Amino acid sequence: MSRSAHPAGPRHADVLPEGHYSAPAADLNVLDEKVWSRTVTRDADGALTVGGIAVARLAEEFGTPAYFLDESDFRARCRAWADAFGPDADVFYAGKAFLSRAVVRWLKEEGLNLDVCSGGELTTALDAGMPADRIAFHGNNKTVAEIERAVEAGVGRIVLDSFQEIVRVAHIAQRRGVRQRVQIRVTVGVEAHTHEFIATAHEDQKFGIALADGQAAEAVRRALSLDGLELIGVHSHIGSQIFDMAGFEVSARRVVQLLAEIRDEHGVELPEIDLGGGLGIAYTADDDPREPHEIAKALSDIVTRECEAAKLRTPRISVEPGRAIVGPTAFTLYEVGTIKPLEGLRTYVSVDGGMSDNIRTALYDAEYSVALVSRTSDAEPMLVRVVGKHCESGDIVVKDAFLPADLAPGDLIAVPATGAYCRSMASNYNHALRPPVVAVREGEARVIVRRETEEDLLRLDVG
Ligand code: LLP
Repeated sequence: MSRSAHPAGPRHADVLPEGHYSAPAADLNVLDEKVWSRTVTRDADGALTVGGIAVARLAEEFGTPAYFLDESDFRARCRAWADAFGPDADVFYAGKAFLSRAVVRWLKEEGLNLDVCSGGELTTALDAGMPADRIAFHGNNKTVAEIERAVEAGVGRIVLDSFQEIVRVAHIAQRRGVRQRVQIRVTVGVEAHTHEFIATAHEDQKFGIALADGQAAEAVRRALSLDGLELIGVHSHIGSQIFDMAGFEVSARRVVQLLAEIRDEHGVELPEIDLGGGLGIAYTADDDPREPHEIAKALSDIVTRECEAAKLRTPRISVEPGRAIVGPTAFTLYEVGTIKPLEGLRTYVSVDGGMSDNIRTALYDAEYSVALVSRTSDAEPMLVRVVGKHCESGDIVVKDAFLPADLAPGDLIAVPATGAYCRSMASNYNHALRPPVVAVREGEARVIVRRETEEDLLRLDVG
């Protein structure tokens, strides 16, 4: 991402430090629609509203910090993905991004399927009524107990991640007298241009079975030979927060090549391929994500072309977007506490949350935007670092951003695009209480995941 080191425009300090920040927006009061959910706007008093409700009311009713999830936007994004891929493909929402029973019901109503990767996610999905055949079960180290539950529930597919798991799942299914539908996760050897910790298709990492050295072909041989398994396809997931479609195209090409090799060796044309998730979203004004219809077209064009070249019947495609659906639909609302100007450096703005509700900045060097949302301001922009209340200096929520220089304790600020991997990766560090998730829709707000309480902490601490 190219960003200017020294922004033009008004300054708070005489000297601006080196950093990765763009020039401040011409008007800090304008909410960039790229990073905010669709029903977010400012009301006549200048306060941010979502689903028609002003943040001051939300803060009063639900407290801060809290995640506010724009349900209409979530549903619209589900529909956009489903429409873009059409009836001949399947969209699996990746529950790891954020999962709750309400979300499962929305997915079910909007016609999406669900990818889960743990017993906990599976329980949530089943409890909220997701039909088991619309669930895919992932993971590089599913326990025997988890596999038993998934097979017993009748999940639509288990994505096999290792040779040992091929045998484990086959054994469990056979003992139960069923044939479990499975895919094999292959590592296609693509270097996705994203943070090392969220790239998954290069060879030196824990996921999948490598294509390059013939391991994937051997996994297919074994899976086809086992009675307990019905091999329906091949799966590839190359990483996360990816904007460049080139990686997906290489991955699709390699997966189709494998299908052709399987056809040549076994005389079987596997009916499905899954190209995983990983599509990027806008966290800041510099990010330019693709729309679902562009993604669908790019993927289906490449698969169709490669299949024609290999004289294969075009398989059914599935995709697993998590972040691209839920990420843009929520923001985190914080109350400003201590403000500490460091002359010649930047101003540290402390909020009432931090790395316990958003670990992504500390973990992946992720970039976020921030805005003053309880009011507007005509004060000049000041360079800030939004930090949490935890006991370490890496507790940063937004590394470099501009807020109005008249910012004061008690103001509400919000960080947009926190719907994915924030609540789901939240922790109790320093015995922080994980914030609630509040769904807002058409003038109504309701808690879908409640705030933790100190009683919750003590209940786990059995002494
Ligand atoms: N499918 C598979 C097999 C996956 O492993 C993942 C994400 C997805 C789909 C969904 O990817 P998405 O569309 O949400 O990017 N905690 C990191 C992201 C880790 C993603 C892990 N797998 C973050 O906060 O950026």
